[in-house]
Amino acid sequence: MYVFFKLLREKALSDIFNYHRFFNKFPVIELGTIKLRDLMLSDKERYFKMMSEPEVIKYLSDEDVPNSLEQTEQEIKFWGGLFYRKQSVFWTISDTSTDEFLGTIGFNTWNFSNRRAEISYDLMKEYWNRGIMTKALTNAIIFGFKNMNLHRIEARTMLGNIPSQRLLEKVGFKREGTMRGYRIIRGEPIDVYIYSITANDFAGFLA
Ligand SMILES: CC(C)(COP(=O)(O)OP(=O)(O)OC[C@H]1O[C@@H](n2cnc3c(N)ncnc32)[C@H](O)[C@@H]1OP(=O)(O)O)[C@@H](O)C(=O)NCCC(=O)NCCS
Repeated sequence: MYVFFKLLREKALSDIFNYHRFFNKFPVIELGTIKLRDLMLSDKERYFKMMSEPEVIKYLSDEDVPNSLEQTEQEIKFWGGLFYRKQSVFWTISDTSTDEFLGTIGFNTWNFSNRRAEISYDLMKEYWNRGIMTKALTNAIIFGFKNMNLHRIEARTMLGNIPSQRLLEKVGFKREGTMRGYRIIRGEPIDVYIYSITANDFAGFLA
């Protein structure tokens, strides 16, 4: 019975986009000095280093912040496994010449039927303000509209997170409103802005 429903779901998804082909091979995206590649367990130490930096985690939910290498491994298995569980795609941003982990970007949720996904990103502090995330985000969005057949991409960011808001607005996201008490940060409910970009907003760019 389970197999039957699985096949039925895959058939329905294939009508929306080329589901089988998409999940056949992990999509590596080469972007000159940086590359979007598979998140691997060998990224563990640098991932944990990124998540141990108070300025990086200031605006992240408690649930997204591992506090040991063991928890980091679980996080990597969860986010890295999204593709192999045929749920979504999540990348390591790496330095092309050294392959070193610099940060992450990916679609943490993907609603196939409604052709929408939520994107999130984090970068190691020593690489901030060099345009790395502008490049990664722009290309992840292009990939989402072209290869995932998305119509809408969402992003959520805390009210105080100015760099993240600047980044989203720079690549064309529009702020839709405030989600009150949406995240618990260090025990406190915090308001969050919701942003989105649609394929129509991006049409000129894709033409
Ligand atoms: C948000 C983040 C990913 C931005 O990455 P980045 O590679 O430094 O961003 P870019 O260099 O591409 O810059 C994008 C825009 O943000 C601005 N910006 C970057 N850092 C900034 C800072 N500390 N203060 C103010 N603006 C900043 C840039 O000036 C640029 O805008 P501009 O071109 O209009 O000047 C990075 O700061 C980060 O990882 N923060 C911690 C984790 C986080 O907040 N994740 C997102 C959760 S929603």
